[in-house]
Amino acid sequence: MKLVVANWKMNLTASETRAYTAAFRKGLTALEGVEIVLAPPFTALAAAAAAEGRWSLAGQNCHHRSSGAFTGEISARMLADLGCRYVILGHSERRRDFGESGELLSEKVARAREAGLVPIFCVGESLGEREAGATEEVLERQVADLAADPAGMPLVVAYEPVWAIGTGQRADGGQIRGAHGRLRSLLAVRSDLRILYGGSVTAETSGEILGLPDVDGALVGGASLDPAGFARIARAAIQR
Ligand code: PGA
Repeated sequence: MKLVVANWKMNLTASETRAYTAAFRKGLTALEGVEIVLAPPFTALAAAAAAEGRWSLAGQNCHHRSSGAFTGEISARMLADLGCRYVILGHSERRRDFGESGELLSEKVARAREAGLVPIFCVGESLGEREAGATEEVLERQVADLAADPAGMPLVVAYEPVWAIGTGQRADGGQIRGAHGRLRSLLAVRSDLRILYGGSVTAETSGEILGLPDVDGALVGGASLDPAGFARIARAAIQR
């Protein structure tokens, strides 16, 4: 079963989330055959949980400590208590804009596990790295930050080339297959691994992307903000 994740980033208030979930539910005609995850901002998680649809929830981030004097931060346990099943970690916007290091991300993965959350761990190369032929090396380095995570635990890895995020310029089939194949061999010890593609996935392109052999689902940013469009992506995933 494919997994489609809506990463709303810093969009949609709690009230807008109520309208979104109502519209999204209408767009989901076939209910079985796809796993749907919504990742609203922290302030809208409760509204998305209260709407009780056929989706589970993800936090977009969590702190690397379990509790304490960290003003403005959110712990993995708080997310789990609100009903989250997943947490997105290592998104390139956090690596780039908030300076999140591999070492810090390993700690976040451990906190997520302690709280019973499944990490959706994002990896991907920048344009410069791809042009320098360093894609495989970057993926290897980023995946090494998962070394301490028990191999038998369910894990989701999202391959998101940085140059494809929010740019409208998605990776082509060959690039996606190449990266996913590499990730699968780097993570061969994992017994429950799903690899998603993310980066400018739209309702129009989702069918083709989700049909690629090594793609277990999609992490969708901009195109997930339209409930009808995201419902189309979920339906495309059912057919694959
Ligand atoms: P995008 O974002 O679909 O808007 O490119 C994907 C992501 O950042 O997860």
